[in-house]
Order: sequence, then C-alpha cells, then structure tokens
Amino acid sequence: MTNRIKNEDIIELLKSRAGFVSGAEIADTLGVTRAAVWKKIKLLIKNGYVIGSSPAKGYKLLKSPELSIGEIRKFLSVHSTTIGKEIIFFETVGSTNTAAMEFAAKGYPEGTVVIADAQTGGKGRLGRTWVSPPGRNLYMSIIMKPEIPPRDATVLTFMSAVACTSAIKKLTSVPVSIKWPNDLIVGNKKLGGILTEIRADMDRIITAIIGIGININLETEDMPDDIKTLATSIKLETGESHSRTIFAVEILKEIDKWYDTLIKLGKKTIIEEWLQLSSTIGQTVKVTTGDAVITGIAEGIDSEGMLILKLPDASLKKISAGDLTILRTASS
Ligand code: BTN
Repeated sequence: MTNRIKNEDIIELLKSRAGFVSGAEIADTLGVTRAAVWKKIKLLIKNGYVIGSSPAKGYKLLKSPELSIGEIRKFLSVHSTTIGKEIIFFETVGSTNTAAMEFAAKGYPEGTVVIADAQTGGKGRLGRTWVSPPGRNLYMSIIMKPEIPPRDATVLTFMSAVACTSAIKKLTSVPVSIKWPNDLIVGNKKLGGILTEIRADMDRIITAIIGIGININLETEDMPDDIKTLATSIKLETGESHSRTIFAVEILKEIDKWYDTLIKLGKKTIIEEWLQLSSTIGQTVKVTTGDAVITGIAEGIDSEGMLILKLPDASLKKISAGDLTILRTASS
C-alpha cells in the first residue's frame, strides 16, 4: 500500500459517481491508505474543489474550480497530438515563460505547458510587465522545439496569435483581431498578448517558449491605473464570467492544430491566416521602434513576419519589431 495518489485519479473516481463514494472504496480502488485519501481531499478543497463529506457515506464532488488542471489534462490527452501532453501547474510563479525555459533545459519535451494561476513577474514584450493577478486570467507557456531557423521564430508568434484568436472566436462573439505583431485586441483595447522567447544556435532554434496571456475575468478595478483605459477582458466584453479551463483547452487545441499546419504546410499558410484575422493591414499606423517613430500605411507583412510600411514618399520600409498604434482606419 502506498500513499502516492494523483489529484486526477481521485477526481475521476468522484466524478464517475452520482452519489457519495466511501473513503474505504476510494482507498481500495487507488491502492492507498484512507489517511492518504483524506489528506488529498483536504488539498483538493484548498484548491477550489467543493467536496461534500459524510462520516457514514464518504465523499461527493459538488463543484470543480473554474481553472481545473485535471480537466485540461483530460481533454488534451484525447484531443491533442503534441501540445499539453505534459502540464505543469503553479499557484504562483515568477513568470511561466522563465519556468518553461528552465523545464526545457531539464529535458521536458516539446508540447509541455506551464500554467499558473498568478505570476509575480509576468513579462510582456519590449521589457514591460504583464499584469497577472490570481483567479482571473490565463497565463500559459509552451515548450516548442521546431526545426526552423531563428529568423522564422516570429512565425511561431503569428501561429499562436492565429490559434488564440480562432479559439476566442469559437467560444464567444467578441470581435477580437490581431494587431501586428502579436496583440489580441478588441477595438483599440488589449485583450491578450504573446511573448515568444528563444534559445538558439546561429542556424537553428534549440527551444522556443511561447508565452500566452489572455485577460479572461479581469475587472477594471483589478487593473493598475495606467492600463485601465487600454486593456479589456472577455468578461468586460461579454458582461459575464467565463471558465478559464474551457479557454485553456480551446486555445491549446488550436495551437496543436496550427502548429501541425505550420510543420506540414509551412509558414505561408500561417501568414495567410494571420492576414485574415489581422486588423492592421490597410491602416494608417505609427510604429515606435527604438528611438524612431515611423508613420505610414501598413501594406502587408513579409515571409518572416516583418511589417511592410508604405511611407509618405511612397517608398516601402520593413520593420521587424516595435509598438504599433492605428491612427486611422482605411474607411475613416
Ligand atoms: C505582450 O506584451 O503583449 C506579451 C504578453 C505575454 C504575457 C504572457 S503571460 C504568460 C507568459 N509568461 C510571461 O511572463 N509572459 C507571458
């Protein structure tokens, strides 16, 4: 008899019954002691599961928390090829991207996902911080080991933006679009973002970490003052709370699908889909890149994800990174 018992095992067992399951039966089925069962039940309750208990009848699962790693694992084990076969969860972590890079260095396989309920050092693009309070949003990082050159790393970000946008469109009617290079926006407010970090040789990516932050149930009062007018969430857009479990599953399923597309069909297909979902192309935009501020019309993106701007003198300029503001839409 062992005391080792996984959360999922006990949850699965409780879910498989409409009524109570006795502690003795759980212990027998899982090959653990009754003390170990009780210890685990207490831990599950601490993690947001509502479990009824009766000395005479045993335990009954009444409610799962809205971020349930067990549920995410269960769905992805059936519906995914590569992504989320291994999921590591933290209640709180500095940054899921940093943690995922460390797990990759320890040999964790491609597709491993690190999820946290809260981040104390969430990282945004261009050295910014990513607001990451507990119980509200999705913070996930995925380990990738694609056989592509470092110059194509941007395509991984594009692929992830396509996957996140598709998932949100499948689950809601929120009019989300992609703002170059990787912002998920609704109108002119930011709903989410993607931070891809790589470890690479001159000619190949060793590890890419795709970090995804999506505001799900964030309220205006959760936001620091400087982003109150700039950010939004699925809850603010729809007027109701949503399950982070469902969003995590749908996003990871879409990443699994679009990553497969990238590997099989190449980056052209990803860029075509990105263009369909983007609200940047055709607009008059201002791009801040380093010390320079460049204004022009966003004409398109090249095969490496660089933005092609048409300048006022009609010449074309390619920009690899920067902060983009839409000044005027094509129709205004
Ligand atoms: C952006 O600036 O638009 C990118 C934001 C990316 C935030 C996510 S949250 C999960 C992962 N961990 C991090 O520290 N950052 C990314």
